[in-house]
Amino acid sequence: MTEVLNEKKSVAIHAANLVENGMIVGLGTGSTANYFIEELARKKREQGLKITTVASSVVSTIKAQKAGLELMAIEHVTNLDLYVDGADEVTPDLTLLKGRGFDLVKEKLLAKACQKMIVMVDQSKLVDRIGQNFPIPVEVMPFAWQLVQKSLQDVGGHGELRSNSSGDGLAITSHGSLVLDMTFDDQYDVANLNALLNAIPGVVEHGIFEQLASLVLIGSHDQVEQRWVKPDQ
Ligand code: 5RP
Repeated sequence: MTEVLNEKKSVAIHAANLVENGMIVGLGTGSTANYFIEELARKKREQGLKITTVASSVVSTIKAQKAGLELMAIEHVTNLDLYVDGADEVTPDLTLLKGRGFDLVKEKLLAKACQKMIVMVDQSKLVDRIGQNFPIPVEVMPFAWQLVQKSLQDVGGHGELRSNSSGDGLAITSHGSLVLDMTFDDQYDVANLNALLNAIPGVVEHGIFEQLASLVLIGSHDQVEQRWVKPDQ
């Protein structure tokens, strides 16, 4: 566990070293993203790094505010230089699964808007296929959840609404949605599944990030491996 924490921190420090003066930088959400925020704040304090940040969640907003980073509201953003975030799964073609947290909507908006998305993971996040270790989170409009669940079941999906952490209610995302955690029979490749989820009415967002990552940084012991997306992808 300590090793994983150190890998998260070292990969976050590596990512922060790729940030340059004058950049607009999107801040992801999660424990690795928190290390990245802390390191950016340290660079600002100690090295005078001049950047503007855009947060992907309430949690990363608070973290960045407390750390003294300059924040811009997502409403004011039309493009950004970098978006730096963690992920739950990464496949060999750098497709991501995200959304163990509750902030898929802003995360995918920032991932789409940025010039370059940098993803920070440790080796435990590397998988052969999306859905290998985690269900696929599907954020749904609250009143649509049963209709969406039925649509997903009709195409071979299985899953239920996510519970809150104490198990006595439902998880609500920061966008005010419910989450269906879904598994799918193996007949789908990820591109088809991505397209299928994008097309279901009532789905607000889902956790497959296809063709959005530019660079994945993989922390392993005291080294960081870089995997760039191939030019033809
Ligand atoms: C939040 C996410 C996180 O980036 C993902 O869950 C990884 O988290 P951590 O860095 O804590 O392992 O997708 O929606």
